[in-house]
Formats: sequence, C-alpha cells, structure tokens
Amino acid sequence: MKILVTGGAGYIGSHCVLALLEQKNDVIVIDNLSTGHLETIETLKKYGNLKFYNLDLVKSKNLSIIFNENNIDAVIHFAAFSQVGESVKNPQKYYINNVVGTLNLLQAMLENNVKKIVFSSTAATYGEPEYIPIDENHSQKPINPYGQSKLMIEKIMDDYSNAYNLKSVRLRYFNVAGADSHTRIGEWHNPETHLIPNILKSKFKDGQIFKMFGDDYNTKDGTCVRDYIDIEDLVNAHILALEYLNNGGETNFFNLGTNNGNSVKEVFSTCERVLGEKIAVQIEARRAGDPASLVANNSKAKKYLNWTPKISLENSIKNAYEWEKVLQERI
Ligand code: UFG
Repeated sequence: MKILVTGGAGYIGSHCVLALLEQKNDVIVIDNLSTGHLETIETLKKYGNLKFYNLDLVKSKNLSIIFNENNIDAVIHFAAFSQVGESVKNPQKYYINNVVGTLNLLQAMLENNVKKIVFSSTAATYGEPEYIPIDENHSQKPINPYGQSKLMIEKIMDDYSNAYNLKSVRLRYFNVAGADSHTRIGEWHNPETHLIPNILKSKFKDGQIFKMFGDDYNTKDGTCVRDYIDIEDLVNAHILALEYLNNGGETNFFNLGTNNGNSVKEVFSTCERVLGEKIAVQIEARRAGDPASLVANNSKAKKYLNWTPKISLENSIKNAYEWEKVLQERI
C-alpha cells in the first residue's frame, strides 16, 4: 500500500514509518521538521521505499498535489505540537497547528477521494479522570489547549465520517515509552520533558539531579501513576487500525495503554535497575496540570483490533537506554 504519514520525522511517527517500511509499504512522509529530525528521515530511508516532503500542513497549498502524485491509499496523521504546558501558555500555536493543519489535510484527502485515516489522539482528551481505569465511554473534558485541540479534531472526524464517509480510527495514547528494539531510532525531543528519558539522561550529565515533581499525591506511594505503553506495541496498534479500516471497519476510537499503572517512583527504581546505578533525585513541587492517576482500560482495542501489548516497562526502559547512548554520541 501507499501510505501518507504526517509527522513521520517525530518520535511516534518515525517508529510507525519504520514498521510500515518493514511490511513493504511505500511510505510518503510530510513533516515540517519543527520538532522532528532530518537525520531520522535519512535513517528510515535505509529500510524501504520512503519519499519525504518538508512541508507544513498549515501553510502548504500543495497537499492535494502530493496525494495526486503519489496515489495515496490511506493516511496516518501524527503531525502536531504535543506539550501540555506550552499549550497553556500559547494556545494559538496549538489550535492553528493542530486543528487548521488537520483541516487542510482532510480537505486534500477529500479532493483526492482518500477515505481512510488513523489519527494520533491522546488520553489528554479525557481531562481529570472521573474513574480509573479509563475506558472510551469516559467523558471527554480536556483541561488544557493541547487536549482540546485533539478533541476538536476527533469531533471534526466524526462529522466528516457522517457527511463524506471519510472513515477514521482515533487512537488515544496514554504514556508512550521506549525506542526501536534494534536501536535504529528513538525518542529525541528538545527540550525533553518526559519522565523516562529525563531519568536516563541524568546518567550522562555530571552533577545533574533528576527532579521528581510531587510526592504528596493520593496514590500508592505519593507520586503520580501513569500507564506506560511501549512504542513498538503502540505502533503495532496503528498497523492493526489500518487493517481494520481496509477490512471495512467503521469510524472508531480506542485507548492505547496496558491496563497497568506505574508510579513515578516505580519507574525511577526500574530505571536505576536498568542503568545498574543510583541516580541523584530531588523532590520538587507538583507540576501544574498533572492528574494523580491515568490508567487505560484497553479492552476495546483488544476486541476490535485484536491488539495486545507485549513489552514490559523494564524492556521498554532497556530499549530507551540503548537509544539514549546512541543519542548522547550524536548531540
Ligand atoms: N515527571 C517528573 N520529572 C520529570 C518529568 C516528569 O517527575 O522530569 C513526572 C510528571 O510530573 C508526571 C510523570 O512523571 O507525573 C509523567 O510525566 P511525562 O511528562 O512523562 O508524561 P505526561 O503524563 O505529563 O504526558 C503524557 C504525554 C502528553 C499527554 C499526556 C496525557 O507526554 O503528550 O501524557 O495525559 F498529553
């Protein structure tokens, strides 16, 4: 198949591109390289037939031409800004990039009669959890512009499905972790805000102390609980979602998580075990906007997509550590 991947130079997008190439699909990537990396594209090109367009979904008038030139069968849409804190300070950046960019993409799809899209949504569309584990029937009341922008897109996709028969699968990610198990690509954010890479990076910087945000939550050990889903398991769900649409599946939405919560302290001690050494840590005040607990109920994805996450948190952290060593050589 010929699959268009937006945001294919970023963390999650690049791992999905790799899996699609390994399955012998032709992959067309659009990325404006605002947070993704050209080096990642160069690496991916070694593994199959990949065509890259350095384009911004918001500004480009050429999207329709790309569809036309490449005979696209389906789209997987990752391109978005995704930092919760930044979205609170600069909502315009999020609404324009995430929502307008998606509207332009959907317009080009309709102009070219492409009617299948898998969309990168988020647990942040649920907002403050009313119960745990969170299933897909949980109310969606985002508490930040990032989550709002993703929810708006979900609603737009429902309307487009009803009106234009443009079928979508929206995948609501919990906390994505890990890296390619062959260390070809991995997580590469600048600045890095996520828990696991931040703990692992402490090993490489002398005198650096890892900051743990809050130990006074109402959880098993006082630190926030999250559901960490490995990137390779997550990518596999995208491949299954495409199959689901190709087999005539209706517009739908699924949580991607493991059904298991791990506290920040548990993640920290697993990282220490993987690193084989103690990491200096300092307890800081709570980070604004962090809910105490976020854990997925993933039974719907299991039922409809036949998806089962297989990679343990420890193995995910091992892969992230192997990748971090590569990254430290590069930067
Ligand atoms: N944390 C630390 N120290 C750090 C980084 C994180 O203690 O240096 C803590 C956070 O306070 C939080 C937990 O580790 O309790 C996880 O934080 P992350 O930043 O790794 O992940 P989030 O849960 O904040 O965010 C993730 C995605 C977002 C998405 C959100 C959905 O990165 O894109 O889940 O709720 F919006």
